[in-house]
Amino acid sequence: MSELSADHLAGANWTPPEVCIVVPTYNESGNIASLYEKIAIALQGTPWEMIVVDDNSPDHTIDVVRTLSRQHSNLRGIRRVGRRGLSSACIEGILATAAPYVAVIDADHQHDERILPEMLALVRSGADIAVGSRFVGGATAGDGLSATRLWGSRLATRLSSIVTGQDITDPMSGFFLLRRDEFNRLAPELSSDGFKILLDLLVTARQQGRPLAVAEVPYTFRARFSGESKMNSLIAAQFVGLWFSKLTRGAVPTTFVLFAAIGISGIGIHLLTLWLLLDVIGFDFTVSQIGATLVAMTTNFFFNNTLTYADKKLSGRRLFTGLIEFYAICSIGGLANVSVAAWLYQAHQPPLFAGVAGALMSSVFNYTVTRAFTWR
Ligand code: GDD
Ligand code: MN
Repeated sequence: MSELSADHLAGANWTPPEVCIVVPTYNESGNIASLYEKIAIALQGTPWEMIVVDDNSPDHTIDVVRTLSRQHSNLRGIRRVGRRGLSSACIEGILATAAPYVAVIDADHQHDERILPEMLALVRSGADIAVGSRFVGGATAGDGLSATRLWGSRLATRLSSIVTGQDITDPMSGFFLLRRDEFNRLAPELSSDGFKILLDLLVTARQQGRPLAVAEVPYTFRARFSGESKMNSLIAAQFVGLWFSKLTRGAVPTTFVLFAAIGISGIGIHLLTLWLLLDVIGFDFTVSQIGATLVAMTTNFFFNNTLTYADKKLSGRRLFTGLIEFYAICSIGGLANVSVAAWLYQAHQPPLFAGVAGALMSSVFNYTVTRAFTWR
């Protein structure tokens, strides 16, 4: 033990990092080593470290990180088990460093690491946050975006400016650099669900009455190096949920927006099944109504399991018991709905108001209880 000094533990020529590069990963084993090399070249002369936050990827990304970190003392990996999510991974990575500046970059080489020094210089000289932009003078979306993605990205950019109150060309960017103390100030207010941490940072700062001064740095979005994208229609739907939630200044949680939207779509499924059973097959009304209720509850359960609670998705045996729980809770919610609506109606409220209030009350009930029991 006596030979172990602080120097030994840290490495004799260790300098505290000035900037920490946080890399969220899910199935990126083929990208890590080359990304590390590229960043090392880009940041020559600046003490830096890299933290990879991996959600227990099936391709064992974390093992690649561990092997590599034996050669490079400025590389660390965080392995999260039983959780998924890009935003929360970034948050955990940023909170894990002591460096005064932090950047987030994708693992797949789509973001151009060569602009990191410029981003750092801008934040050092006064900007609150530097954002890599695919859509500002000199930048192009290059080979990285398909026509549909480009269209979706433009739409999302418009929606974003409504909630950020700022004209930023690429608020969807996953490539940015900021001061860590600035981040710490915002962190308690950030929603951990979702794909869009930058948007969340901008909106949160604005809501605290101190909008971030943004400096945009153009770059060309490259094609993915290895592996495949995790962006899909699920994530797009989650974005819309986050956006609604931010419109209400976070009063309505993203998960409730999604839960309620699924509930509304359930009415359509209910009516369609009712029509099939009653008119097409010819069951009597009560049987058809029970059947339609069961079908709608079941589809609602599966939609919530994949979309609303993608990060707590039930599977195996728990999927089955969860479904039974969901039936039971929604039945109580349905009773509450009918009693509240009937009570309001008897108190001479207009029938439409009574009906909507009943439905709203049961969705809040179902949401709160299933969140506490089924997807806890
Ligand atoms: N830890 C963790 N957990 N990392 C994740 C997860 C997750 O659940 N999902 C995705 N990632 C990582 C990926 O491994 C990758 O390093 C990065 O997040 C971006 O994921 P991609 O799958 O490559 O996303 P993309 O290329 O479709 O999206 C890009 O464009 C968006 C803007 O349209 C990214 O640059 C996003 O950051 C950006 O917001
Ligand atoms: Mn990508």
